[in-house]
This record gives sequence, C-alpha cells and structure tokens, in this order.
Amino acid sequence: MLADKDRIFTNLYGFQPWNLDAAQKRGDWDDTKAIIARGQDAIIDEVKASGLRGRGGAGFPTGMKWSFMPKESKDGRPSFLVINADESEPGSCKDREIIRHDPHKLIEGALIAGFAMRARAAYIYIRGEYIREAETMQAAIDEAYEAGLIGKNAAKSGYDFDVFLHRGAGAYICGEETAMIESLEGKKGQPRLKPPFPAGAGLYGCPTTVNNVESIAVVPTIMRRGGAWFASFGRENNKGTKLFQISGHVEKPCVVEEAMSIPFRELIEKHCGGITGGWDNLLAVIPGGSSVPLVPAEQIMDAPMDFDGLKEVGSGLGTAAVIVMDKSTDIVRAISRISYFYKHESCGQCTPCREGTGWMWRVMERLRTGEAAVEEIDMLQQVTKQVEGHTICALGDAAAWPIQGLIKHFRPEMERRIAERESAIREAAE
Ligand SMILES: Cc1cc2nc3c(=O)[nH]c(=O)nc-3n(C[C@H](O)[C@H](O)[C@H](O)COP(=O)(O)O)c2cc1C
Ligand code: SF4
Repeated sequence: MLADKDRIFTNLYGFQPWNLDAAQKRGDWDDTKAIIARGQDAIIDEVKASGLRGRGGAGFPTGMKWSFMPKESKDGRPSFLVINADESEPGSCKDREIIRHDPHKLIEGALIAGFAMRARAAYIYIRGEYIREAETMQAAIDEAYEAGLIGKNAAKSGYDFDVFLHRGAGAYICGEETAMIESLEGKKGQPRLKPPFPAGAGLYGCPTTVNNVESIAVVPTIMRRGGAWFASFGRENNKGTKLFQISGHVEKPCVVEEAMSIPFRELIEKHCGGITGGWDNLLAVIPGGSSVPLVPAEQIMDAPMDFDGLKEVGSGLGTAAVIVMDKSTDIVRAISRISYFYKHESCGQCTPCREGTGWMWRVMERLRTGEAAVEEIDMLQQVTKQVEGHTICALGDAAAWPIQGLIKHFRPEMERRIAERESAIREAAE
C-alpha cells in the first residue's frame, strides 16, 4: 500500500481547508521561483524522467506531449495550456476532488507546465455541473493572483502567466480536446479533424496543449521530489501514483491515491472493504470509466491496475474509474444504459457515430428484453466494428467497446434471454 509520506494529494478528503494558507503549509507554492529558474528544458526532462502518462484517458506521455510545443514563436502567436476539467466520463470523479480540496496544486502545476511550454496563459475548462467546485477553483485563482503567484511576474519568477476558469454547459463531448477548444472559442463543442494537431494550431489558432487536471496537478510534486521518485512506483511504462475512483458493488466506494500497477484484488481489499457479498459474488468490472470494455471477475482478480495490465485483459485503464458489478447486476441492461449515454452525447458530425450509436442502443434494448433474434448479436458486433475507427473522435470507439466486451464475455447470457422469451411465448401459445 502506498505510504502516506508518498501521497501527492495530502488533502484529497478535505480534512484541511483548501485555501492558500493551508495549501502552503502542505508544501504547495514552496519556492516555485526556484523550480521555474531551472528552465523549460529541465522541467520537461524531469517530467519525461518521471514516466508520467496523461491521466485523462489516453495515457500519452506528458513530457513528450509538452516537447511538441514550439520553442519560439516565429509569427508572434502566443501558446496556450488548456486544462481539461470536464470530467464527464461515467464513473470518473477524481478531478473534482483535486479541485475542491487541493486547487492550489492545479494552479501551481499550471504555472510550471505553462512556463515549460512557453504558454501565455492556462484555461481551465470545468464541467458545468461542478458549480461548487468552480466557485472554489475561482476563489483559489483569485487568492493566487492576490499573492502574486500568478499574473505579472508570477511567483517573482520574471514570467507573466494568467489562469482563466471557463465553465462548460454539460456536454460530454466537450471533454474531447478539440471540441473543448471549439467550445472555449465560443462555438458549438464539436471535435475538429486532425491534423492540424493542437500543438500546431489549437485555441484561437495558436499552439495549444490540452492536459487533464491530474496530469497537471502532480507536476509540482514531481519537480520537488524528482522524476526518479515518481518513477519508483508502478511497473515499467506504467509509472507513478494514480487516483483510482472505485464505485459500484464494493463495501466502501472511494477515491484513493495508490501506486500504479496495484493488483485489482489488493486495491479493493485495502481501500473498499471488499466486494459486496464476498469475492465469489463478483461478476465483472469496468476498470477505466464507461468507455472501456468490461472484464469478467476471474480475469480481473490479479490484473495489475495499469495501462498494460488492463490492455492484456482486453480493456484499458482509461481514467481509472473502476466500476464494480456483483452478481445482482443485470449486465445487459448495464451496458445498454451505457449505449444510451453515448447515443445521447454523440455530437452528430459523423454518420457512423450519429446513426450507429442510436442503432446500437436500440438493438441493445431489444437484447435486454430478449426480443431480438440470435443473429442480431453478430450483426451488432459487425456494426460496432463499422463504427470503431471510422469517426472523427474517439467517442465512436467508446460507444463500440463496451458492447464488444459484453458480446465477448456474456454472449451466453444474451442468448439465454432470447431463448427464455421464445419459450415463454411458445408456452403462452400452447
Ligand atoms: C468523447 C471524449 C471525452 C473526453 N473527456 C475527457 C474528460 O472529461 N477529461 C479529460 O481529461 N480527458 C477527456 N478526454 C481525453 C482528451 O481528449 C485528452 O486526451 C486529454 O484531456 C489529454 O490530457 P492528458 O494527456 O493529460 O491525459 C475525452 C476524450 C474523448 C474522445
Ligand atoms: S465520433 Fe461522434 S462525437 Fe465524435 S465527432 Fe463524430 S459524431 Fe461527434
């Protein structure tokens, strides 16, 4: 189990105040000037050495992403950092804890990351429903301005850096980085075709990097304790500490910071008091938020909770939103509900996603009630393959994968329902 001394988010549960005074007592904003004085390249090298991979779902190496930003502006365009606090993935609730209990880690991280990328400002895009969180975030930004930690000559570093908070209006798709940029520009939040990538032309046509809240908030601690310290947790290619969000059929659902690669069983035993009804009662787990395929009980038990470990069992770490389902779950209904979510959240730009998500959901509903024909299971599988990889953004994949996981692991249950309904109809007719 991760030792308390190695926790980055020491106020994750809000036992202490979030404000600047309390944050400084916890070590935030401690000689930030000296960190900045190390220079852009040194900061990016330290983040590279830490092995940090993006915490927003895709797991792209953070230091490498930052190095794509231009070192100088040849045409006078400024660069920007956009911080993704949209957190709309069902099951995900970690960025919220950072914002409401440890917002100064995010602001300090924004300054250090923004400086490393030569960004003029950071825009924090927060989901509309996070009303209290947005209030706390804004109050923390105001405090930081007042204390001279951001703004002109931020933290006496000689670097000017602004932080703006922008509230979204409740669309899941605005969490996709280019849709977020469109939305920040005041347009309808619809993903852009890539290329150009945001590092070339992002917000207002300027070089931009979009990073998740957790990815940015861990940076000050990485700079203070060193990349090697962060890299001492987790397996090769899966480094660091990580916020896991465990919900569903466990005794005590929670958000907890743990070492990456902790085995599933240990995570649940140590932090959640076990599965409701005991381990034999576990049916399946969606380990990374609603977008990733489910994993049946016997395959997840000993899986390391990291990018590679979950890939090996046909799923993914995603946002590390671990949704646990025991045997009382109607698994077809659960996945059908997820399909409805993607149908509802599709932005409608690409035909396979716009039409496919609705089509898949309608078939899922017929499978839930057993009204579909057995052949429709194969047809559904084929349609998921026609959606996957054929759309502008990854929402299409996110809609396809949970269904593929269901068919792969629970096809007998889907067929059972159909057979049960057919025999009920036959009996009624006799
Ligand atoms: C439909 C969709 C929704 C997304 N929602 C979020 C989100 O709420 N928060 C987030 O950090 N990343 C989200 N992402 C991923 C972002 O596009 C992007 O990869 C991420 O913010 C990059 O940050 P990172 O490199 O620090 O992980 C979403 C992606 C897609 C396709
Ligand atoms: S995949 Fe779906 S959500 Fe993404 S751009 Fe296409 S229609 Fe919009």
